[in-house]
Amino acid sequence: MIRILTVCLGNICRSPAAEAAIRRASQEAGLEVEVDSAGTGRYHLGEPPHPRSVAAAARTGLEVRGAARQITRNDFERHDLILAMDRHNLEDLLAMAPDEDTRAKIRMFRSFDPGADGPDVPDPYYGDDDDYRRMIEIILPAAEGVVLHLTGDQPPR
Ligand code: 4NP
Repeated sequence: MIRILTVCLGNICRSPAAEAAIRRASQEAGLEVEVDSAGTGRYHLGEPPHPRSVAAAARTGLEVRGAARQITRNDFERHDLILAMDRHNLEDLLAMAPDEDTRAKIRMFRSFDPGADGPDVPDPYYGDDDDYRRMIEIILPAAEGVVLHLTGDQPPR
């Protein structure tokens, strides 16, 4: 069983959608994974995913659920792969990681998409529906790439 954690700032827009996308892609590939998500920040603790994120994901058949929480020390130990949505999240995660072993589990989520046009899943929080649609378009191939990496079909960049 591989344990994956997706991480953004608020844990209401990007990381819950990425969690759902990885869960679906792994199920389709017959890969046993446990996927969860968390935020580096504490702004929205306990809140459900953002309605625009839920709606944009639902258009592609993804069900985004959960309650926002902040990453814990236990998350760093429990998960095999910790996926940062953007470079701010990466920096924060590297600073929060308790030791070298846990730091080694942290990657940029889009590094698993060979067709990515940039390193970040841009923060859509102050954006409109189009920004959330774009967010899902970015997340889907990255999630596929994560699963291809785990099944050994695609090396990470
Ligand atoms: P997320 O989006 O990190 O993708 O969940 C955000 C949610 C909340 C805030 C920023 C980004 N905020 O500033 O409260």
